[in-house]
Amino acid sequence: MRAAARALRGARRVLVATGAGMSRESGIPTFRDALTGLWARYDPEELATEAAFRRNPARVFGWYAWRRRLVRAAEPHPGYHALVALERLVPELVIVTQNVDGLHRRVGSRRVLELHGSLERFSCVDARHPFPADAVPEPAADAACEPPRCPRCGSAVRPDVVWFGEMLPERVTAEAWDLAAACQAMLVVGTSGLVQPAAQLPYIARDTGATVIEVNPDPTEVSAAAHIVCSGPAGAMLPALVAALTEGEST
Ligand code: OAD
Repeated sequence: MRAAARALRGARRVLVATGAGMSRESGIPTFRDALTGLWARYDPEELATEAAFRRNPARVFGWYAWRRRLVRAAEPHPGYHALVALERLVPELVIVTQNVDGLHRRVGSRRVLELHGSLERFSCVDARHPFPADAVPEPAADAACEPPRCPRCGSAVRPDVVWFGEMLPERVTAEAWDLAAACQAMLVVGTSGLVQPAAQLPYIARDTGATVIEVNPDPTEVSAAAHIVCSGPAGAMLPALVAALTEGEST
């Protein structure tokens, strides 16, 4: 922990990359945790591709609306607040997340890049015309729910998340890659490092001289790129890291 704090203290620019594990302690399931992970309970081919949406729009739309309700009911845990505190302790901090739950923004983190989109934004499937989130139905359970239709082209409305086989948002991705190559320290929190291209970021940072710090209770694909591994849950590790950083500053 002290080594991680030292690396952060010496950094002018810090990049924090987060994955589903960051939201686990706020009650939002990850994707690949053996039993509780979404992909252990649901088939991504049936729910997270454009083809699946076109095949069965009500099933897919209902599932994302259900996840949106879960997320709305969730409270950001102390790890989220620690990242807001860290923002004040280093000259520049940017969060690049694979998560679509919006919790970083909700807790007040200022610079957040959402690589995989957001459950809070919608557009139509044919032309991606934006659609107002407050006009989207909210079914109670994980049940089929007919998506609204785009008033401009009539095609079904989908959540603005990145589905398998789809490109990541261009501007956000370019900014994330630039930041990974220009940061002095990178915190990698709660990702298995199995999904490309986001999984490249820690390696880009490492190859351009940054110190890579992993926060995860389990070893991952990213562990090989990490100089420092803080083995534990984000909700405990991140506040401890901020405490070590502030302690170090006062001694
Ligand atoms: P995964 O579910 O693949 O990995 C979650 C990681 O979080 C694992 O390495 C866990 O060990 C770790 N973890 C679990 N609890 C934790 C805790 N309390 N604190 C810290 N870490 C914890 O999720 P991602 O790597 O985010 O993409 O998955 C990447 C992408 O795959 C997602 O964005 C989504 C999914 O398919 C798309 O849908 C495009």
